[in-house]
Amino acid sequence: MDESGVKEATTQSGVDDDRIKDLKAFDDTKAGVKGLIDAGVASLPRIFIRPPDELVEELNLGYSQAELPVLDLSGIETDDQRKSIVDELRQVSEEWGFFQVVNHGIPSSVLDGMIDGTCKFHEQDAELKKEYYSRDQFQKVRYESNIDLYRSRVANWRDTMTINLLYSNEVVPDELPEICRSSAMDYINHITKLAETLFELLSEALGIKVDNLRAMECARGRTFVCHYYPACPEPDLTLGVSRHTDPAFLTILLQDHIGGLQFLHDNNWTDVPPIPGGLVVNIADLLQIVSNDKFKSREHRVIANRIGPRISVACFLIGVAVPEKIYYPAKELISDETPPVYREFTVGEYMSNFFSRPIDKSGLDHFKI
Ligand code: OGA
Ligand code: NI
Repeated sequence: MDESGVKEATTQSGVDDDRIKDLKAFDDTKAGVKGLIDAGVASLPRIFIRPPDELVEELNLGYSQAELPVLDLSGIETDDQRKSIVDELRQVSEEWGFFQVVNHGIPSSVLDGMIDGTCKFHEQDAELKKEYYSRDQFQKVRYESNIDLYRSRVANWRDTMTINLLYSNEVVPDELPEICRSSAMDYINHITKLAETLFELLSEALGIKVDNLRAMECARGRTFVCHYYPACPEPDLTLGVSRHTDPAFLTILLQDHIGGLQFLHDNNWTDVPPIPGGLVVNIADLLQIVSNDKFKSREHRVIANRIGPRISVACFLIGVAVPEKIYYPAKELISDETPPVYREFTVGEYMSNFFSRPIDKSGLDHFKI
């Protein structure tokens, strides 16, 4: 972003001049949070320190040790088992909106390979990595620190490499960074298949036609965000990711063994503990709209940790952006008693709203009737 663009974006959100200078200096290093750690930073630069009112707000929320549901997908080919999986999926989607899946058919070598490839990308020679540094949301592969750096009130302790298959769904191997190319290709192919299965099951769980969410091509536009959360010297002062809901129909998340992801359940932060071979699934904004509030997009965050780095890879399943497709609350779910809560929208419209707000502001109000 050039100087005037930065100024315009940040003054709109009330960020002062000193902060803009700090943000710009940090961004210009193109080395992210990892670059700070490599330079031996032992206390947090102020752009990362959470404002006092955010900490006060936090006091209204509790902490719960509730155990996250785990959905076992084995036996999905048999009718009986499939029916019981769909029933469980309906219940966890309504009550929790967050769950883990196991026996999903993706070999652990593919999961481990993706974690390892992501780690290698972030830990490669800083000069090579810089070539990917960009804030252009249309670029196929980019790397940056804090997608909303100039819009948020506080920066998060994390760097991200993004593989964007939203505007052109084809995966061209040569376009992926060589250092993680083959592991990313494998992972993308496996996750795409799992996503299609999950959308079929979710259609059934919603009581709409089996192929309904599939027909909406929810799993077509995909974005893989490959995060690197360096060890943090003062974890109580900042966050790995601020609270937010995801810009997608559904998110499938792979995390390593470190932990730190929490979601908000009945106003309590609830841990999403890593389980070997498990994948975390959460309902996101667009499915809340299409399900007309039957399934809710859940807020979550990642706390910072003295131990690190932590690696995670979120796959956002975003639907079709091009050619433009109109989405709306599923007709089968609309009646006199349950009128539509949201208007029609396009994925392009949703994404342009996403890229103009800080991640911790809801993306749904904009589409409410
Ligand atoms: C995200 C996200 C959680 C994690 O990318 O939207 O919530 O554990 N990530 O990295
Ligand atoms: Ni998220």
